[in-house]
Amino acid sequence: MSNPPALAGRHVVLGLSGGIACYKSAELVRLLTKAGATVQVVMTEAAQAFITPVTMQALSGRPVATSQWDAREPNNMAHINLSREADAILVAPASADFIAKVAQGRADELLSLLCVARPLERCPLLLAPAMNREMWAHPATRRNVAQATADGAVVLGPGAGDQACGEVGDGRMLEAEELCDELIAFFQPKLLAGRTVLITAGPTFEAIDPVRGITNLSSGKMGFAIARAAQEAGAAVTLVAGPVHLPTPRHVRRIDVRSALQMHDAVLPIAAAHDVFVATAAVADWRPAALAEHKIKKDGAQRTPSFELTENPDILAAVARLDPRPYCVGFAAESQDLAHHAREKLVRKNVPLVVGNLGPATFGRDDNTLLLVDAAGERELATADKLSLARELVREIARRLSPS
Ligand code: C5P
Repeated sequence: MSNPPALAGRHVVLGLSGGIACYKSAELVRLLTKAGATVQVVMTEAAQAFITPVTMQALSGRPVATSQWDAREPNNMAHINLSREADAILVAPASADFIAKVAQGRADELLSLLCVARPLERCPLLLAPAMNREMWAHPATRRNVAQATADGAVVLGPGAGDQACGEVGDGRMLEAEELCDELIAFFQPKLLAGRTVLITAGPTFEAIDPVRGITNLSSGKMGFAIARAAQEAGAAVTLVAGPVHLPTPRHVRRIDVRSALQMHDAVLPIAAAHDVFVATAAVADWRPAALAEHKIKKDGAQRTPSFELTENPDILAAVARLDPRPYCVGFAAESQDLAHHAREKLVRKNVPLVVGNLGPATFGRDDNTLLLVDAAGERELATADKLSLARELVREIARRLSPS
């Protein structure tokens, strides 16, 4: 069973002001609707010089609003009607001129008018700036962004990099996918606001020689999903990742490591400074006792090499021994008898919560089933995609941090 998409039931007014980044907004409409939102596009005259309302209407499935003088609105008050039904107004691209208008509270065309007319307490305004780097750096723009922010607008980005004018610097509008993720995150309850969360994820790689090693099938997806969910919930998140090929969730600090010892050395010095530690990494239990300096070669006698193994430190148990210690959450990847093994880890590692999952059924996959085991009992989180499960787990952790 899959959870409803992240923006299900949300109605978003997507405003476009003039800028070459308008081309990204077409893709943004697709992503927002795919994520479950209904999207009402509003375009300024300048935006229509870059992309046509035809394109935006076709993608959003709704006529685009372009004028406050629209006689089709029964009350002729498009600015009131549009802002009253919106859960958020996202202006992407927000040009330097448009941000200046927002900062001054000007209302001489539909989009800026509805920004002023929106009910402040329940219709947030998000701005995705898009402009040349000199325009972004100009003192007037800095002043306007600061004023718009002080008045309650949320500024998303901008990104840095190549610009349409050929220059390189700050001012690029975030990519459509990044903006969609930012909006999804914006709507998540801030259950971990002010908290710091440390997470380990992925496998470790224990070198045998310069080209070989011992590793496992952990993809890191569950840990990366928890990092994203914790960040969406308002936490400052540090993610210590073994060798995986996954993009870093937005606004998450990532530390890449390879071996269990490196993971241990990255985690231990910073763990006590965190409120929560979630150990999702599939840390190798053993490593070769000695690292061969050169590649081990087959010899003429066809003798197979043998290795001595030595035990890796238990990172979770070591963090749980710290005083003060963060709230520790362990994972148990088992192939059978989940509840029994999870409870055994709870006791052996002396942690308040262990999350069980069936390793072979979940490694590398996008969905999972979790069994939460703590002193009070057990609770199953039914099969869902890993991000939805991560959000539920974050809720469970937040509840345990501040019991109501
Ligand atoms: O029993 P096991 O050691 O496999 O327990 C798994 C849990 O302990 C996971 O949360 C895993 O991230 C953590 N662990 C660890 N360091 C190890 C081994 C496991 O942090 N060396």
